Amino acid sequence: MKKIILWVAVACLAIQLIPIDRENKPVDKNNNFTDIYKTPQDVRSLLKNACYDCHSNETVYPNYAYIAPISWAVKDHINEGREYLNFSEWGTYNKDIKQNAIQKSIETIRSKQMPLPSYINYHPKANLTTSQRKILENYFLSIQAK
Ligand code: HEC
Repeated sequence: MKKIILWVAVACLAIQLIPIDRENKPVDKNNNFTDIYKTPQDVRSLLKNACYDCHSNETVYPNYAYIAPISWAVKDHINEGREYLNFSEWGTYNKDIKQNAIQKSIETIRSKQMPLPSYINYHPKANLTTSQRKILENYFLSIQAK
């Protein structure tokens, strides 16, 4: 029994050594969503607090993101999130992709699919109130009209 515990402990330590790329790519202001639209500060903060950790190159990694295997799950969400929508690379998207991303953002904020519920547990600022959700929805709607 002692041996098993020892080996589990060794395995837990060993997986900590598997490297994870947490480096953020530099943000080009010319392509960054909030710079392109000169987003007002209040909306900018909401996006930063609720979406940018997974949907931008400005990810702030929480402490628990340094402990494997949690770190793998965190990085997975970030990779997947950026694949669907990366606000730091907004300027590189064509019109269709932008329209779709805006529409989907409105829908997912409304249906509370976004921010990911598992993330909200550890990020109280991302636990948007109904009125904060409304502000984001209206902002995306105003951009859609442009
Ligand atoms: C903890 C990470 C995380 C946060 C925070 C987060 N997302 Fe996501 N987002 C994801 C992941 C992962 C996916 C892809 C898988 C899925 O749809 O669940 C995704 C998908 C999306 C999609 C594409 C949906 C589709 O079906 O095409 C949109 C749009 C989106 N997110 C918008 C947002 C907005 C807006 C916010 C902030 C209010 C936000 N997300 C916050 C991780 C996150």
